[in-house]
Amino acid sequence: MNPAIAEAESLRTMDKEHVWHPLMNHSGMEENPLDVVVKARGSTIQDASGKEYIDAMAGLWCVNIGYGRDEVAKAAYEQMLELAYYPLTQVNPPAARLAERLASLLPEGVERVWFVNSGSEAVDTAIKIARAYGRLNGGRRYKIIARHQGYHGATIGGASRTGPPPRRAVYRGGPWGGATLTGQTLRRAMFEPLLPGVIHVSAPYFYRSNADTEEELAGRCADELDEVIRYEDPETVAAFIAEPVIGGGGVIPPPADYLKRMREVCRNHGVLFIADEVITGFGRTGELFASDLYDIEPDIMTMAKGLSSAYLPIGATATTNEIFEALNAEGDSGFLQINTYGGHPVACAASLKNLEIMMDEELPARGARVGAYLGGLLGKLSDIPCVGDVRGVGLIWGVELIEEDGAPLSTAATAKVLAYAKEQGVIFGKNAGIAAGPSNTVTLSPPLVFTEEEAERAASVLDTALRRVQAESGA
Ligand SMILES: Cc1ncc(COP(=O)(O)O)c(C=O)c1O
Repeated sequence: MNPAIAEAESLRTMDKEHVWHPLMNHSGMEENPLDVVVKARGSTIQDASGKEYIDAMAGLWCVNIGYGRDEVAKAAYEQMLELAYYPLTQVNPPAARLAERLASLLPEGVERVWFVNSGSEAVDTAIKIARAYGRLNGGRRYKIIARHQGYHGATIGGASRTGPPPRRAVYRGGPWGGATLTGQTLRRAMFEPLLPGVIHVSAPYFYRSNADTEEELAGRCADELDEVIRYEDPETVAAFIAEPVIGGGGVIPPPADYLKRMREVCRNHGVLFIADEVITGFGRTGELFASDLYDIEPDIMTMAKGLSSAYLPIGATATTNEIFEALNAEGDSGFLQINTYGGHPVACAASLKNLEIMMDEELPARGARVGAYLGGLLGKLSDIPCVGDVRGVGLIWGVELIEEDGAPLSTAATAKVLAYAKEQGVIFGKNAGIAAGPSNTVTLSPPLVFTEEEAERAASVLDTALRRVQAESGA
């Protein structure tokens, strides 16, 4: 047997016996063995047999500068030799430099950075900051408003829900009810009850709304938020959290002016606006941050993924100086949290190099250019009957699949689309865990170094896979 294949088999056995994988029931593994991914360059990954695939998801929406950058590896290596670790209870040079660099790049006013190790921790930290801020001067603001279909992470706070059924009825809150931070029902149901004080409002999901225009939907959502805050009592609401473009929930870009209007409602009620830019940050939408693209000034921003392009785990929560200063008043304890690896010098050094590459190569603008091209190609899929909607911005796109009557295509049929595409060498993603319903949106979020040729290949492979599933359905 080819030694590489033998090695892969042995790794699969170790893995099968000991690794617990995310988002899957292991009993299906026999039938669908996982790939052993051994190598990656640019937008292409390679498995142990040498087969290459275009990774149209950049891992998990995160390898923004593309795979295989040796400058990042060198920066990490050199930092590891110099100072492998020291806690952020003192100053370490890469953390100080990275915070300064971020402050110069972040949206106006957001300039103080708390380092963590993942997007989930960034979100939990944002909630804690919002609550701590809401309790200042005898305040009692602790509730967090999130949206259906939002995803904010794996921690109990990120996944949380609360709210008795009668209140859900009053607030309608979209088709699935419930009150969660991550609005993806299936992702939280098995862990309930979770964090109390989280309320849910509708996502601005134009395709499945009955609004005639995006403007109408934006107005409705803003009114709903306003109503929910008023019913809850504004003095109890600490923050509203939103992904500027919903990612894992099916790629839902906001209607024009939606974010500005939501921002305005928050401002009117003294509610903090948390922009969860874990996916949208660092060039994904064609601007460095989606908050810039949609012209909003968040009070708090969360980031991870593209911050290091996933070369090392790192996340951050950034706030305005006003919040920072309020939580550091003379005589107060300060913000009582510590993350052992927060501001890890090696991760910060890798992030600094990642940002340098991103800015030098103007990758956000490149993503906007190639993204527009990709969007045009995907738009042409609309003539396939099972394609209901094609939506996106920059280099984040979703293709929502439907049955003949417009109902969501089944999860099984959507999985087939992905499997057929993979056979042809392109890896797409799909939304998952939204509700007790299908995962029917194929997602794309490739590295920002994606080329026009790769975009053509991805669109053509998706076209073939969709037509095959369409033909199998007998339509
Ligand atoms: C918007 C958003 N927030 C938070 C998270 C959680 O990040 P992590 O998986 O790094 O904890 C994710 C992960 O996909 C995300 O998409």
